[in-house]
Amino acid sequence: MKTPSILITGATGTVGRELTRQLAEQGHAFRVMVRSLDKAEPWRSLPSAEVVMGDFEDASSLRTALQGIDRAFLLSPSSEKAEAQQLAFLEAARQTGLKHLVKLSQLAADENSPVRFLRYHAAVEKAIQQTGMEYTFLRPNLFMQGLLGFKDLIRATGQFFASAGEAPVSVIDVRDIARVALHCLTEEGHQGKTYTLTGPQALTHREMAAELSLSLGTEVRYTDVPSEEMHQGLLQAGFPEWQAAGLMEDYAHYSRQEAAFLTSAVEEITGAKPLSFRDFARDYAEAFLR
Ligand SMILES: NC(=O)c1ccc[n+]([C@@H]2O[C@H](COP(=O)([O-])OP(=O)(O)OC[C@H]3O[C@@H](n4cnc5c(N)ncnc54)[C@H](OP(=O)(O)O)[C@@H]3O)[C@@H](O)[C@H]2O)c1
Repeated sequence: MKTPSILITGATGTVGRELTRQLAEQGHAFRVMVRSLDKAEPWRSLPSAEVVMGDFEDASSLRTALQGIDRAFLLSPSSEKAEAQQLAFLEAARQTGLKHLVKLSQLAADENSPVRFLRYHAAVEKAIQQTGMEYTFLRPNLFMQGLLGFKDLIRATGQFFASAGEAPVSVIDVRDIARVALHCLTEEGHQGKTYTLTGPQALTHREMAAELSLSLGTEVRYTDVPSEEMHQGLLQAGFPEWQAAGLMEDYAHYSRQEAAFLTSAVEEITGAKPLSFRDFARDYAEAFLR
């Protein structure tokens, strides 16, 4: 196998797994960075994939993971450590001479945002720009696949909840985020670009519930709950306080209708229209029912 020149971080997660699936399907050679070899199973038998151990908390492992790599996809979870972890990766990338960094950011990233996730993403974007390294920033809206986190609740009670009010959100399918990332990692022309990625329509959570009802063949209701109730629900579900508070800031941002606009970036980059929520509800019906 040709030594891969592309490194994928966050490969075991929602976006990264889809990105590596698409890279493999198209025959691109790539390296995935995993924290534990137990998690390497999806790539072990793939001739185009190489697995390396790496942890954002361990700078020397990041340098090892980046050896010989020209382009990298940077994704880490939005935890309290995210900014420091991504800056550590950037420093390792600078030391190993990475040419082009594709960073998964978030729609409306801004250092002055009231939303902590949008502030840290903006701070990392700025640091990347300051290195002079080539970069592409992908700023997606809320992931459709996030609703899979409610599948047990939906199966048990026929409902899911949040504090989004009646605000429409131009939710995006992670398969489209992965498609865009694949283009940015494997072709020229995306350097120095910031792409805001949305789905093809903005839907309220109630409208998403109606689409899920149609697809699953059983009624799914959306229950809007006061912010404090959602916050407590997140804490009870095991989210650390920093992240739960951040998600509440995200939902306040959605309910202010700040994430309702549409962009044409997915179609411009991939040549195909973004997947609709109806496509998502159809393709994931079995995952919701399982
Ligand atoms: N959810 C949304 O609606 C949304 C919308 C816009 C932007 N975003 C952005 O998307 C990102 C999250 O993407 P996602 O949902 O695909 O993430 P995810 O499913 O939570 O996956 C996180 C990945 O990071 C890896 N990871 C965690 N800690 C690590 C460490 N210390 N060292 C190395 N790897 C580590 C995980 O590996 P393990 O398997 O080892 O844990 C996993 O592969 C965040 O930056 C968020 O701001 C999310």
